[in-house]
Amino acid sequence: MLLSPAGVDALRTALTRADYTSNGIATRLGPQATGGVARNDFRAALRATEDRDPLGTLIRVFICEQTEPEAAVAAALAPLPLDEALAGGLVERHGDGLRMGLDLEPYGDDWWVLADVPASARPGRPLHSEHVLGIGGATQTLIGATVRRPVETALDLGTGSGVQALHLATHARRVTATDLSERALRFAATTAALNGQDWELLRGDMVAPVAGRRFDLVVSNPPFVVGPGTTTHVYRDSGRVGDAIGAELAAAAPDLLTEGGTMQYLANWVHVAGEDWGDRVAGWFAGTGLDAWVVQREVADPMAYVNLWLTDVGEAHDPQRMAAWLDWFDAHKVEAIGFGIVSLRRSGHDDPMVRVEDLRQRVEPPMGDRVAAWFDRQDFLRVRDTDALLAERYRAADGLQLRQEATMGDEGWAVDRQVLAMPHGLRWTEEVDPLVLALVGGADGRLALRDQLALLAAAHDVAPEELAEAAGPIVAHLVERGFIEPVTG
Ligand SMILES: C[S@@+](CC[C@H](N)C(=O)[O-])C[C@H]1O[C@@H](n2cnc3c(N)ncnc32)[C@H](O)[C@@H]1O
Repeated sequence: MLLSPAGVDALRTALTRADYTSNGIATRLGPQATGGVARNDFRAALRATEDRDPLGTLIRVFICEQTEPEAAVAAALAPLPLDEALAGGLVERHGDGLRMGLDLEPYGDDWWVLADVPASARPGRPLHSEHVLGIGGATQTLIGATVRRPVETALDLGTGSGVQALHLATHARRVTATDLSERALRFAATTAALNGQDWELLRGDMVAPVAGRRFDLVVSNPPFVVGPGTTTHVYRDSGRVGDAIGAELAAAAPDLLTEGGTMQYLANWVHVAGEDWGDRVAGWFAGTGLDAWVVQREVADPMAYVNLWLTDVGEAHDPQRMAAWLDWFDAHKVEAIGFGIVSLRRSGHDDPMVRVEDLRQRVEPPMGDRVAAWFDRQDFLRVRDTDALLAERYRAADGLQLRQEATMGDEGWAVDRQVLAMPHGLRWTEEVDPLVLALVGGADGRLALRDQLALLAAAHDVAPEELAEAAGPIVAHLVERGFIEPVTG
């Protein structure tokens, strides 16, 4: 750990006593200063903490990134001895005072997470090669996307600060967390102890430390950044060439999961000229026997991508690094890089469903519930052929909207496009033809779909069997995306 066990207890006492929690800070600062802090404008927060009581000092040091008088910092951290706080790196000397040495973030209702100070807060200072990442966008994406159903055992691969493990402990009886970096494991152990949690912590390369073991839930925010395979920062670079880390995790998944188990991880994949990116990613799961749902959330061009990741480690002005990275992309015909969430499930069926798709729209949180529901819908679809699908009753999704585009002509409006839009959940939109529109419009949960189709066939003068046959895959698709939901009971 970064501190002794007694030191961690003392730090917890100091933070609790001062009410250095998300709520405590928000109450102290009020909405205006809190809003300012979110935009890195600390002026109002500094005015609200001028009296430098313990909470005020902690806010000034760890939120507003100020250098504060030693006596005030020592008082704010007491009973943690200042010597131990300095030795553990929590604070560091700067000018004639002390400033934060580590990022000590109040998180959730009453948690704290320890991580390194980001590159942006220490311009000019190179990041440690085993830099421990704080809670950024990717971290939150995985937190939000994780299926939060109760499980016996959960594994966090590449735990870093331990923030994923903190969340896992809310719904898993036993949590295991691994990392290649000894330094990261010290941070994770300290985060666990500070929050009164107890995880099994193991050191090693990806799945090696848990070889032969299975878990009900596995999550990983791995070092997914793609490039030539050189490692300068372990939180970002896996040492694998290209997007191989994503494929490696997929290949490892069948041996990691219990029956019915779920694995979720973040990944980057390359879009290679002349190759379908979806086929490339789907290929990762061939032969695994796992159901897979991969959603691409973002796509970046190589230049923007390299810039982003060089800025992340404070190396944006290294033209050679940038050129070498871009050369690698050119040599491998990489036109773009996709980012997304991989969700896998060991369903035990011999006809696994693999779906790789773009999902760029904003999704109604929590994404984890959407993932769980997607797999539930696959369970419904898997055991039904077209006949069985049409025998069910369905109801259109809550609040489903129809958007029309029409052109005014001599005979009034002529409809060009009709789009169904889900205002909730995954917020899919989809262009549909009038027959599908009528089908969805009539889905009020009362009639079996086959009977609904018979009415439609009569109204449109089509043979009912023909319509039923054509409807099978369309209905499956509408169910998979949640436009219509089966009515049970
Ligand atoms: C992107 S950070 C994620 C940290 C944290 N889990 C989160 O979600 O914020 C990736 C983590 O994986 C660790 N890591 C890098 N290479 C690894 C490897 N080969 N095996 C295991 N862990 C690795 C890094 O040390 C780092 O802590």
